[in-house]
Amino acid sequence: MTKLFKHADHQADIAAGGRVLPGNIPQSAFEAVCRPLEQAQVLPPKAYTDPDFYRFEVEKVLMHSWLPAGRADQVRNPGDYFTWRRFGETAIIVRGGDGAIHAFSAACRHRGYPVASGAGNCGKRGFTCPYHGWRYRVDGSLAAAPYMQEGFDPADWALPRFGVEVWQGFIFVNFDRDAAPLSPQLTTLDEAIAPFNTAALKCSTMRTKPWVGNWKATLDNFTEAYHQPFVHPTTFEPWAPARKGIYDAVDGPYNLFWLPSKDGDDIHTVWDPMPGLEGRYRNSFIVVNVFPLFHALIDPSCWVVLDMDPTGPDGLIARWDVLVTEEVFNRPTFEAERDHLTELLVPTWNEDEHACAQVGLGQGSRFAEQGQYSWMERSVHQFHRWMAERYCAQDPA
Ligand code: FES
Ligand SMILES: [Fe+2]
Repeated sequence: MTKLFKHADHQADIAAGGRVLPGNIPQSAFEAVCRPLEQAQVLPPKAYTDPDFYRFEVEKVLMHSWLPAGRADQVRNPGDYFTWRRFGETAIIVRGGDGAIHAFSAACRHRGYPVASGAGNCGKRGFTCPYHGWRYRVDGSLAAAPYMQEGFDPADWALPRFGVEVWQGFIFVNFDRDAAPLSPQLTTLDEAIAPFNTAALKCSTMRTKPWVGNWKATLDNFTEAYHQPFVHPTTFEPWAPARKGIYDAVDGPYNLFWLPSKDGDDIHTVWDPMPGLEGRYRNSFIVVNVFPLFHALIDPSCWVVLDMDPTGPDGLIARWDVLVTEEVFNRPTFEAERDHLTELLVPTWNEDEHACAQVGLGQGSRFAEQGQYSWMERSVHQFHRWMAERYCAQDPA
């Protein structure tokens, strides 16, 4: 029988004893991603569509990755907290009396009732479970449990702690508290974005909506400008043509590219450029992704940050936030200006959403193959390679 598609070749890898990952995807498909760009292939289509692979990806990669969870000024004062949910886990993120931010599971150690929801200030007493009154301190340790018998030791019943870090004012949580720290891996990115004084920026939500497609297809889309002339011919492309994109080499879990304006003039922005920006910071957009889930489109006046909450292999909740200087944030006209920026970007986002949904249709095809990269997808290759290395990493014996 004629082979319908080249994936049949992978069956030979499997027959030859090659390692096979969930979704019946041979490791060789990911090794093809890790070649130099000119010979590399994009992630295999089933890595975007297969439910078994999605579950594997969550457990193997995402549950051990630094995930953006909010901004540090959401917990400005001791006792300030908010809850954040990803991949079936709810975390409480709270500032302790010592000024440190803690993150731990909200699931009560008694019978699981979430000990907090929403946001607020827990005061010095911490969190009391609404079900049977077990009370936890702001570091997640159990302070008291009513009506428990002699011999019960609260010291044995702390809420599971997660890793937490603040990078550039963004709170990142890692469900694996033993993961290597994030910030030391981003020092070259820190240098590139230093002129923005990002940690001091103020955040406001622009738009939240369900988004069709796999979260990686969405990040892929926002990680290159290659599609701009075809998907955004009258919206984004005239502002900053794809062919002018400059894709930086990187040495950490991130990518970055510059999109200079068409004529080299300063980018037109809703607000004035941030103080102190010069040269390429004024005449370019900058796209930054911190793997796996952080994306930002930066112009001289603001950061537009995409928060992705994957709900399965083929969908996510997308929320766009804008970060501006405190001076802009406090203007009485800020909300109207923010909404104006949203209106400017919605046509582009709608075009992107349609493209991501279409990609999902093709990736689900029996005939779908791993494609090849353009030089304009260097940043996509950097992302895919980071993912592929983690899919293939052997667990410690
Ligand atoms: S479930 Fe929390 S005290 Fe019982
Ligand atoms: Fe786009």
